[in-house]
Amino acid sequence: METDKMELAKTAIAAKERAYVPYSHFRVGAALLAASGKIYSGCNIENAAFTPTNCAERTAFFKAVSEGEKEFTAIAITGDADDYLYPCGVCRQVMAEFCSSKDFKIYLVKNEKEIREFTMDEILPGAFTVTDLEKGQRPE
Ligand code: THU
Repeated sequence: METDKMELAKTAIAAKERAYVPYSHFRVGAALLAASGKIYSGCNIENAAFTPTNCAERTAFFKAVSEGEKEFTAIAITGDADDYLYPCGVCRQVMAEFCSSKDFKIYLVKNEKEIREFTMDEILPGAFTVTDLEKGQRPE
């Protein structure tokens, strides 16, 4: 929906302001719309040890899931570059865990007027999911 898209874009842009990025100085913001109608924002949170860094998208997902949400409608993502920010592979995999529906929308927000739309299948074709696990043959 157009109103969802604009509200998510604005929320992601605002969330970017709260990024904790003393190392990369590269801010990312995300806004995740749950099926409940609630929007969860996220920013990237870096760490002196580097690897514990959490991306904006995963911050939003982990906030939402830890509040009991498991179904999602859309996510907006925006970064500090004057370009579209494509989510990293780890965040795509986290999205695939919860957003297998063909209706789930991924909005890449360059600015409020330039927004690209993707589906999960476009952003992570052939995602590894629980159905692959179920096909697995486990040793006795
Ligand atoms: N980053 C995100 O927050 N999301 C992405 O999808 C790509 C990368 C963050 C992680 C790190 O804080 C900074 O951007 C530079 O990699």
